[in-house]
Amino acid sequence: MNTRQCLICSASLEPFISFGQMPIANGFLTPADYSSEYFFELQAGFCGSCYMVQLIEQPRREKMFHENYAFFSSTSTRMAKHFETLAELVKARYLKASDPLVVELGSNDGILLGHFARSGIRHVGVEPSANVAQVAREKGICTISRFFDEDLAQQIVTDHGQADVILAANVMCHIPYLHSVLDGFGKLLKSDGVIIFEDPYLGDIVEKISYDQIYDEHAFYFSVASLSFLFAKHGFEIVDVRPQSVHGGSMRYFVARTGVHPVDPSVGAQLAKEDQLGLRDSGTYVTLRHNVERSRDELLALLKRLRQEGKRVVGYGATSKSTTVTNYCGLTAELVEFISDTTPIKQGKFSPGVHIPVRPYEEFRAHYPDYGLLFAWNHSGEVMAKELDFRDKGGKWISYVPSVQILE
Ligand code: TYD
Repeated sequence: MNTRQCLICSASLEPFISFGQMPIANGFLTPADYSSEYFFELQAGFCGSCYMVQLIEQPRREKMFHENYAFFSSTSTRMAKHFETLAELVKARYLKASDPLVVELGSNDGILLGHFARSGIRHVGVEPSANVAQVAREKGICTISRFFDEDLAQQIVTDHGQADVILAANVMCHIPYLHSVLDGFGKLLKSDGVIIFEDPYLGDIVEKISYDQIYDEHAFYFSVASLSFLFAKHGFEIVDVRPQSVHGGSMRYFVARTGVHPVDPSVGAQLAKEDQLGLRDSGTYVTLRHNVERSRDELLALLKRLRQEGKRVVGYGATSKSTTVTNYCGLTAELVEFISDTTPIKQGKFSPGVHIPVRPYEEFRAHYPDYGLLFAWNHSGEVMAKELDFRDKGGKWISYVPSVQILE
């Protein structure tokens, strides 16, 4: 899909950054697959009409979410805790009806829905990546392996009735055809039901220069302003917003049919913050591009210097986000010896595009490098706590968010 028209309101987009040719962020591969590796131009644009920041071109969805999808939600203990807390909030506040139904889009391996399944609450997970959907089913979680749209919403209503709560974590921003999804929500949600979803927040990207959030799977970079426009078109409104620290800075949105629930003051307050940050001003994105270019130049210069000094640098966490950084900055295995990752499906493979080897975490532990390049910077608290021994033995961390630095 290659369009310069806004996917939300059809106005012309203002492209503000190109990262050049990019592979699929989660496309970890073996040398046999190098010759057929898929690339597309990773470019982001701003819509001056409805304020949605989005990719200009997105690969076909089947190239990203399929039976070999490498992202399993349950790899981080912090994320497991985060979803447990969300499930408790939903149960306490929104499941007052008798025999309620919870539907989750992009339910992955069931990290969130499992809390409802184990409490005997009726639930349906929608997860197009067949391998992760199967893992959820094996845990007893009712999962449909399809992409969500209006037709599937109708099928769920026919089979299970309307939903009290619709959940989606790190999923809505993945879906280019949001109008069809919102039409589906119109059918699926009870009249007083609530949609709760969270995604990386545009305000954090701009403030932290965390450009690595920009990759193929993230079709949109949401703000309260842009989402307010979108939901209003479908008879919904944002009734509450809560910033979250996960995924490097996310926003949790609570959405209901217009006029049904009171609107919390947090919504107006966040809109005011967005205006201070300039999220509705195209000049903000030109500044972001300059900041990103400076970050790239500094990271590359640092890694080249460390190589000249004969230091070993190992990447920590083969994140999807790191694909943007490694390819945009030109980080090859000459600069980053390997990437350590705990996910079995990624181990023994090579990173997309630049083909840095991905090795099991045990190799990091067995022979500490001089520097750990924090590709999983969004988990830095968890990682720092886990890796005290690395620091004690003289290891140092390199981070590039919010700026390129060696953490002393
Ligand atoms: P994640 O932070 O979800 O980022 P993205 O959405 O960009 O993929 O991915 C975390 C990756 O880092 C995952 O592959 C597991 C890995 N990881 C480790 O190897 N060790 C760790 O201690 C943590 C927290 C993550």
